[in-house]
Amino acid sequence: MSAPRHFLSLLDFSGEELTALLDRAQAMKATHRAGTAQPLLARRTLAMVFEKASTRTRVSFEAGMAQLGGQALFLSPRDTQLGRGEPVEDTARVLSRMVDIVMIRADAHAMVENFAAHSRVPVINGLTDLLHPCQLLADVMTYQEHRGSIHGRTVAWLGDGNNVCRSFVNAAARFGFALRVATPAGYAPPLDGLAEAELTLTDDPDEAVHGADLVVTDVWASMGQEADAGRRLADLADYQVNAARMRRAAGDALFMHCLPAHRGEEVSAEVIDGPQSVVWDEAENRLHAQKALLATLLGA
Ligand code: CP
Ligand code: NVA
Repeated sequence: MSAPRHFLSLLDFSGEELTALLDRAQAMKATHRAGTAQPLLARRTLAMVFEKASTRTRVSFEAGMAQLGGQALFLSPRDTQLGRGEPVEDTARVLSRMVDIVMIRADAHAMVENFAAHSRVPVINGLTDLLHPCQLLADVMTYQEHRGSIHGRTVAWLGDGNNVCRSFVNAAARFGFALRVATPAGYAPPLDGLAEAELTLTDDPDEAVHGADLVVTDVWASMGQEADAGRRLADLADYQVNAARMRRAAGDALFMHCLPAHRGEEVSAEVIDGPQSVVWDEAENRLHAQKALLATLLGA
């Protein structure tokens, strides 16, 4: 049995493969809207393992499988033996004999890697402490839908150098855009294991957004960091994306946020609910991008 192909990081695909994937996502979005989509994944089953909360990731994968004629199973550690200490390796061996593909949202990236190493079927990373590659499929798709190729553009990330930020670093390398990351000291993304990209790290948010084509941020306390939220909010207070910051960006700059958002913290209500914000398209495109990913990994 040949080793399955996983999607744990954007780096698991080449730039050409990612571009083809997003073209397919755009085509699938069009056929879905036209009501002419084919049931490409009939009789296929996706297992979804969630160690953390989710709205978008769960619903986009579950609805996506239904739209493609397949099925999705929601598995929480609260209800499975995984939550009672059954080893990840054993769970991977068993699930992958029963389902065709697995999506995992885990606390530790190492858990997903360990699962994938013992799985007979493809494994998709639905967010870990380290990376959120599915989010970047939707983000690049959304930019390109509104503004054309992201190649050669400049993206500014403000705030915490978290899992989504680290996937932006990989996206910068794979799609060929320049990335400026503005964080306070101690919040820069650890770069080990990431692709070498055209990357500027700074502690100056105004410098980062200057002339940028896309401005992005995310929550200041990610899932699992709740106990530390007070200190993080104080440390990151000067990194909000607000109207003054957006005025420094390019005139046609877009704003993105993976959601859920905290208005008044990392982004002002005026920006996220304003005309430059494409966050609802971004959320919708999780569905289309992941349908293309599922079909590609399953060879459909
Ligand atoms: N952006 C994102 O992954 O959202 P959920 O946490 O709701 O899945
Ligand atoms: N950085 C956030 C993203 C949520 C989709 C978190 O990990 O909680």
